[in-house]
Amino acid sequence: MAKFRLPANSRYTKGKTFESSTKGRVRRFTIYRYDPHSGDNPRLDTYEVDLDQCGPMVLDALIKIKNEIDPTLTFRRSCREGICGSCAMNIGGVNTLACTRHIDEGKDDIGIFPLPHMKVIKDLVPDMTNFYAQYASIKPWLQSRTPAPPDRERLQSKEDQEKIDEPSACILCACCSTSCPSYWWNSDRYLGPAILLQAYRWIVDSRDDATGERLDDLEDPFRLYRCHTIMNCTSACPKGLNPAKAIANTKKLLVERRH
Ligand code: SF4
Ligand code: SF4
Ligand code: FES
Repeated sequence: MAKFRLPANSRYTKGKTFESSTKGRVRRFTIYRYDPHSGDNPRLDTYEVDLDQCGPMVLDALIKIKNEIDPTLTFRRSCREGICGSCAMNIGGVNTLACTRHIDEGKDDIGIFPLPHMKVIKDLVPDMTNFYAQYASIKPWLQSRTPAPPDRERLQSKEDQEKIDEPSACILCACCSTSCPSYWWNSDRYLGPAILLQAYRWIVDSRDDATGERLDDLEDPFRLYRCHTIMNCTSACPKGLNPAKAIANTKKLLVERRH
């Protein structure tokens, strides 16, 4: 059987251990550290955190580590409420949001890595450039050719509004796309579940007049059809959304318009 190994400069090494100075309920966090400008391999640093002096979420532990133990640790965060999507990372082997992930009561070290298969800018910060460029490519705004009524908003029926309700709740955290094997291998050409969910959000918006062009844009062996219905995306979504279903519905719309 073929054996694959990471290139030598990608293999991570054992890093430093920072012991807790207090003796409460201590939990160890093993965190991926990498600075591409240093020329060093990535390493795993271990931090002991006294949970009796820390908030309940993984993001609380990261903030405590940065404020009190090691200010060089780099990660993104903003809202602390599961709304902005910026604290997405891989925690205990699962892509999720650090601010909504509870520090569980187990004894094992909690491993924290950046979102998988993305270029790393530093430590837990992935490079989202390609992801945002793909988002821009689906034209995520209302394209209407009819003038808006002069005295009110463009109205929708309750049923039409419900069609865009769920896809509009997406926070573009990329947990789904970075758990999708098709996206790992083809992210240069395949849009991935997050962006396809957003494309669907505009396709089914009753106020949008560019449905045909939007579907034309997805009629492509890579942009849409690299989805092989593996469903990792839907299990990964920390907001409970279903990008796989949106992709399946988009494929159905493409079939229906041929007949
Ligand atoms: S259903 Fe599978 S292949 Fe399709 S986007 Fe989701 S994880 Fe990727
Ligand atoms: S569908 Fe879910 S996992 Fe994917 S980007 Fe949106 S909120 Fe994140
Ligand atoms: S900090 Fe905004 S989603 Fe976690």
